[in-house]
Amino acid sequence: MNLWFEAKDGTAQVEGASIFSPDVEGIDAKARLRAVLRRRRRQLGAGQRRRLSVRACARARAVVGRARRIGAYLPHGFELDPEWLMRRLERAGHDIYVPLVGRRSDQVLRFTRWRAPFLTNRYGIREPRRREIIKASELDLIIVPLVGFDERGTRLGQGGGHYDRTLAHLGRSGLRPQRVGLAFECQRVALLPRDRHDVPLTAVVTEDRVYRGFGSA
Ligand SMILES: Nc1ncnc2c1ncn2[C@@H]1O[C@H](COP(=O)(O)OP(=O)(O)OP(=O)(O)O)[C@@H](O)[C@H]1O
Ligand SMILES: [Mg+2]
Repeated sequence: MNLWFEAKDGTAQVEGASIFSPDVEGIDAKARLRAVLRRRRRQLGAGQRRRLSVRACARARAVVGRARRIGAYLPHGFELDPEWLMRRLERAGHDIYVPLVGRRSDQVLRFTRWRAPFLTNRYGIREPRRREIIKASELDLIIVPLVGFDERGTRLGQGGGHYDRTLAHLGRSGLRPQRVGLAFECQRVALLPRDRHDVPLTAVVTEDRVYRGFGSA
């Protein structure tokens, strides 16, 4: 199950079917993989997705450690729902941020407080605090959605390059923010194509395990 391997001729295979050959013109390896992996994620069904989301969230709690400012996300489509984790972290005193997409599609993500905290104004009435917008480099850790991941910490996203552009300041060995992928086991493959701009993950947490210690491979 979940077999994704490099065949002797350099092609990559999923469950016996050739998915991409880097040398074949006109074949976009990442696009094909996205299609395969999105289908797997969709096939989980809503109830199963909810249960597995909570299991992965519970496991991710320990990975976050003492990071103070944490970026997370509001799930879209069939993505793993991180809300259980966000609520617990918020209750434990971490500051939780969510991404804001810029108007132009090639912009980097900025982050704003999830459920902006309230303050009491001079009339004694509670009002939302002024919106604080920060850069990714001001986060200690970022929890990212993904379409696929491999055992080297390579991330396959939605294809917009948003997270890669947002985290481009890190280079290959950057430390801050730490990048923690949240994923279902069915999104794991042995080997994904990695482009120069792809920022690797620090860890990936699924319903079954925590993957980390990827090194800089
Ligand atoms: N640092 C960067 N600078 C400029 N363009 C970039 C950078 N990173 C990614 N891109 C652009 O984004 C495109 C999509 O990248 P990629 O296929 O890796 O997306 P992805 O990681 O799946 O998407 P996302 O991060 O939105 O989930 C690339 O083809 C590239 O043109
Ligand atoms: Mg990428």
